[in-house]
Amino acid sequence: MAKLRIIFENGEPERTIDFDPAAAPFQHDGKPGSILDVLLGHGVHLEHACGGNCACTTCHVIVKQGYEKLEEASEQEEDLLDRAPGLTPRSRLGCQAVLEDADAEYVIVVPRFTINQVSEGRG
Ligand code: FES
Repeated sequence: MAKLRIIFENGEPERTIDFDPAAAPFQHDGKPGSILDVLLGHGVHLEHACGGNCACTTCHVIVKQGYEKLEEASEQEEDLLDRAPGLTPRSRLGCQAVLEDADAEYVIVVPRFTINQVSEGRG
């Protein structure tokens, strides 16, 4: 079983999910076995304005542990990430980053602001 710990910058309580990557997909949005797939399939909310189709940045997460175990980001993902508020060298799009290592322990941070919330703040 792989383990995924989720830390929310907005102060929501941390969550930990144990899951079997081979059992993916867990629901229908994002790549099968992606961070978004695992979260939604286990009742943890993550913004995903484009439905997990690599066309927004609302599913931006920061991978604190296990980053090097993820499938490499596509050029399209990299281009989108450039527009994510609070981009870090360990940023990924939750709907594209697939958690495929069954023995890994992943830790991710869900940033406080997504691009939706930033533009609402400006308005
Ligand atoms: S949900 Fe839109 S890019 Fe991931």
